[in-house]
Amino acid sequence: MKYLISLSLAALPAISLSSAEPGAGGVHLAQISDGFDPEARYMAACFACHSTGAAGAPRVGPGNAGEWAPRLEEKGLDAIVESTVTGIGTMPPKGLCFDCTPEELRAIVEFMLESSE
Ligand code: HEC
Repeated sequence: MKYLISLSLAALPAISLSSAEPGAGGVHLAQISDGFDPEARYMAACFACHSTGAAGAPRVGPGNAGEWAPRLEEKGLDAIVESTVTGIGTMPPKGLCFDCTPEELRAIVEFMLESSE
C-alpha cells in the first residue's frame, strides 16, 4: 500500500502540525526497512486497544479524528510518536511492537491518523 503522509495529514483541517519539521516525512520514510507495512503492524500490535478504545486509548477508524485532534493540537505529532516509543499512561512502551524502530512507530501512528479521518 502506498500512502501519502503529508497529504493525508493536510486533510485534517483542525489539526496543527506546526511542530513537525518540514520534509520530516520523507526523511523518516527513508529509514523504514523495506517491506514494512504500517497497516499490518497496526493490526498486529495496536489494534487490540486502539480499535475499541480500551483503557482510554484514542480510537482508530473513520470518524475518530476528534479523539486525536486534542493530542495533536496540544503536543504535536513528534511528541505523540515519542510517547508511543516510551509508553504513556496504560500504553506500554512501543505499544507492544517491540521490534519496531521509532521511524516505524511513526509510520504506524501516521497510518492510524490517516485511518481516523
Ligand atoms: C495495551 C493497550 C495499547 C496498545 C497495545 C497500544 N496502545 Fe496506544 N494508547 C493506549 C492508551 C490507553 C493510550 C492513551 C494513554 C494516555 O493518554 O494516558 C494510548 C495512546 C496512544 C497515542 C497517543 C499518545 C499521546 O502522547 O497522546 C499514540 C500515538 C498511540 N497510542 C499509538 C500506538 C501505536 C502505534 C501502537 C502499536 C504499535 C499502540 N498505540 C498500541 C493503549 C494502547
